[in-house]
Amino acid sequence: MSDLYSLKGKIAVVTGGSRGIGFMIANGFADAGAEKIYISSRKAEDLKAAAAEISKKTTCIAVPADLSTEAGAKVLADAIRADEKGIDILVNNAGATWGAPFEEFPSKGWDRVLDINVKGPFFLTKELHPLLKANATDADPSRIINIGSVAGFGVGGVAFSYGASKAAIHQMTKNWANQFAADRITVNAIAPGPFPSKMMAFITEDEKARAVMEARVPLGRIGNPDDMAGLAVFLTAKSAAWMTGVIIPLDGGGLVARGDG
Ligand SMILES: NC(=O)c1ccc[n+]([C@@H]2O[C@H](COP(=O)([O-])OP(=O)(O)OC[C@H]3O[C@@H](n4cnc5c(N)ncnc54)[C@H](OP(=O)(O)O)[C@@H]3O)[C@@H](O)[C@H]2O)c1
Repeated sequence: MSDLYSLKGKIAVVTGGSRGIGFMIANGFADAGAEKIYISSRKAEDLKAAAAEISKKTTCIAVPADLSTEAGAKVLADAIRADEKGIDILVNNAGATWGAPFEEFPSKGWDRVLDINVKGPFFLTKELHPLLKANATDADPSRIINIGSVAGFGVGGVAFSYGASKAAIHQMTKNWANQFAADRITVNAIAPGPFPSKMMAFITEDEKARAVMEARVPLGRIGNPDDMAGLAVFLTAKSAAWMTGVIIPLDGGGLVARGDG
């Protein structure tokens, strides 16, 4: 039982690890004993600061890259390949949204969101698949977690490109789970409800808007770092070695209560 929720000896890669949900997950992996954690995002200074924080607990390496492009995925993968023969965990978390009324929604609002939320995870996973496969065993498969959203299930949240991108990553999760099982790589998705982050700051840092949002959550609050780390560690430790192709809402009950995000 003692090592059921331990990441001792594991090497993890977390995209978008500089802040928000990515930082919650990378920090949670450090708390669970991961040996080394690579984090990646665009703004080098933010990333370095996050890596310094996590490095108080374990080795954390910052690799700045624009993961919305194939070239960026290669930058990160090359940095990892230079030092590792295998990795155990990949979390495709980096993401973005775009807000605009239907009548004004621009083409750029589709490209930006699909590039980082859907194509980015695809190309990075393509690059890192051999390293994940290298460390995978029957008893302890390598793990991929994709970060989806309740907005990929329901119709109440952010519309247009964001919801479509998150439905796409949920679908890709199931496809990959089926395809990669033979390689002993599990693929699951976390579909968060509201968590505090830069993406959600317009709500979580506005007292009134936050109260309205909290009132919509059956469990009466938005998510916190322990909520996110708890599920991410569960999915990547021995605890979830036989679990794949599952998309888990982590939303305080919002989806089941209302059927939307
Ligand atoms: N917060 C929520 O309530 C919520 C709910 C459901 C789903 N999610 C999902 O959770 C994930 C994380 O979002 P968050 O809420 O934590 O948002 P956030 O605070 O805005 O963090 C996004 C992270 O992704 C990185 N990123 C963005 N574009 C990138 C790019 N082109 N290349 C590399 N890195 C990039 C950002 O760093 P740089 O800007 O420096 O690149 C940052 O580290 C996203 O997939 C989001 O859709 C969030």
